[in-house]
Amino acid sequence: MAVVLRSEIAALAPYRQGRAAAADAFKLSSNENPFPPLPGVLEAIAASSLNRYPDAGATALRVRLADRIGVSVDEVHVGAGSVAILQQLIQAAAGPGDEVLYAWRSFEAYPGLVAVAGATSVTVPVLSDGRHDLDAMAAAVTDRTRVVIVCTPNNPTSAIVTTAEFEAFMAEVPETVLVLLDEAYAEFVTDAHAVDGFSLLERYPNLVVLRTFSKAYGLAGLRVGYAAGPSYVLDAARSAAIPLSVTEPAQRAALAALDAERSLLDQVAVLVERRDRVRDGLRSAGWDIPEPQGNFVWLATGDDTAEAGMVFERHGIVTRVFAPDGIRISIGEEESVDKLLAAAAEVVATLR
Ligand SMILES: Cc1ncc(COP(=O)(O)O)c(C=O)c1O
Repeated sequence: MAVVLRSEIAALAPYRQGRAAAADAFKLSSNENPFPPLPGVLEAIAASSLNRYPDAGATALRVRLADRIGVSVDEVHVGAGSVAILQQLIQAAAGPGDEVLYAWRSFEAYPGLVAVAGATSVTVPVLSDGRHDLDAMAAAVTDRTRVVIVCTPNNPTSAIVTTAEFEAFMAEVPETVLVLLDEAYAEFVTDAHAVDGFSLLERYPNLVVLRTFSKAYGLAGLRVGYAAGPSYVLDAARSAAIPLSVTEPAQRAALAALDAERSLLDQVAVLVERRDRVRDGLRSAGWDIPEPQGNFVWLATGDDTAEAGMVFERHGIVTRVFAPDGIRISIGEEESVDKLLAAAAEVVATLR
């Protein structure tokens, strides 16, 4: 006799992490930051009282973020990674019989979060250039839609949603539907047309914007993300959260990272320059890639995806392979760039 589990949970594939790299390979599979911690972060962590529970409300960090964003403290929520906040908000708004709408391919955690809430995923394919098809997404909203997730830059295609596209989309979505704008990679965006969620919070009462300290701020291992939006919606997320899951080291490190703004901007500038160089190298090798605006690039390798992933591995580059769609490659160490481009050229020569 086996324990009776919810069938939709038993059917789920567990979250698949970007593979670890061999000692001589580069791990470009999880959109992580290759730099060591920002100045002050290690000292801030060391000052934590590890025998005490953290501040459950992450007050100091929320005060600081609210000030930066220009909202009240209650309009900011902090979670153990922005993925935790996504889960809380999906659970708060959608249950059995409800629909959660998002683009596909997008962040691979979305389907599982929706299934755990007991709700139904409705997906709209991204366009051939990796962008959200927001017209089709607006048309896919039904009476049962409770949440729409818009991911910009989209993981894994790295393509943005523009302000104009987002405004047109919001005009079509009922105010009773929660719209989550997942901006995990916002700090890497250089396209002036890209939507900036924080600037639109006042206009849309059903909008919550999510960001993270995992990517540009380099704190993926500490798990801290945040959201800004209507306080009653974020109160629901707080109610759905596991208490005390944002640790004191994480809260202190996030504050220290915010203090290190100058260094942060320098690091982001280096990664953006590196990304654009990788983009140019790929395009001159014949790759038609979406304009990358996150810290990663997308190769639509289609049916050749698994084989292409192996070519990259042979060159010492561990990528994220999403067969049969494509390969996502994070922008990592400078030394990885030439290897990455050599592997991409070999894929062109042998598989395409
Ligand atoms: C689009 C997107 N949203 C959210 C997250 C979650 O980030 P974290 O939970 O580390 O804040 C990720 C991580 O890869 C992501 O790609």
